[in-house]
Amino acid sequence: MKEIESLADWIKQSDFTVVLTGAGMSTESGLPDFRSKDGWWRNFDPATIATVDALETNYSLFHEFYCMRLKTLEDCRPHRGHYILAEWEREGMINSIATQNVDGFHKAAGSGRVYELHGSLRSIRCNSCEEYAEVEDFIHKVQCRSCGGRLRPGVVLFGETLPQDAWDCALRDIKKAHLVIVIGTSLQVYPANQLPGMTNGKTALINYDIQDGDSRFDMVIQGKTGQVLARLNREILGDV
Ligand code: OAD
Repeated sequence: MKEIESLADWIKQSDFTVVLTGAGMSTESGLPDFRSKDGWWRNFDPATIATVDALETNYSLFHEFYCMRLKTLEDCRPHRGHYILAEWEREGMINSIATQNVDGFHKAAGSGRVYELHGSLRSIRCNSCEEYAEVEDFIHKVQCRSCGGRLRPGVVLFGETLPQDAWDCALRDIKKAHLVIVIGTSLQVYPANQLPGMTNGKTALINYDIQDGDSRFDMVIQGKTGQVLARLNREILGDV
């Protein structure tokens, strides 16, 4: 495919490449995304379970939903695509990954500079005093051992702001980037969806569901994340 060759060239030529990932990065690991046919938000209304209001006024449902997310995560692992990105960072071909994913798979696969824009599912803390707690405590609905408050996963809920550090780093890198590769996101959620428009570099989108091209990007590759990254990797290594 001509696009694979071109994007491989762009990656080799770029001095500063940033990857922005969404849930479509991890569906091949077995985790559902949010808005596709089998996505989380097709079965659950985020307004009733993924908001600050849900945490405060409907903790049982909130707790049930995030326990389900944690259980799903337990059975899944990073896939080849996550490992390829980690290898590219070690080889100096990409600089950082800004991710909307809360699964921790980029770090688990060995990527070093990962900006988790929506936090991390397995990082449990007290909603009142911020004290960290164990995943098991959250699952068993134990109260915070310091203040008796409610435990919650360290994900960004609707109505909360993004972790400042992660956002600042992502923005800084995106502004510096010569190339931004956007993988597996519907770009429907603010403010992460603004990032690709904030670079002066080239932009490429990898997604299996692309309607009529996508004029926001300099290049669009339709395909599954793992397969596209494997083909790009072979092209870069000259192993085609
Ligand atoms: P979405 O579910 O909105 O979008 C996932 C995108 O990935 C869709 O465009 C799919 O077509 C595509 N996709 C799925 N599997 C793929 C695969 N194997 N290969 C290529 N593309 C694939 O998920 P996000 O854009 O990540 O936020 O959603 C953004 C945020 O919305 C999430 O971080 C979450 C959610 O509400 C919070 O919970 C704060």
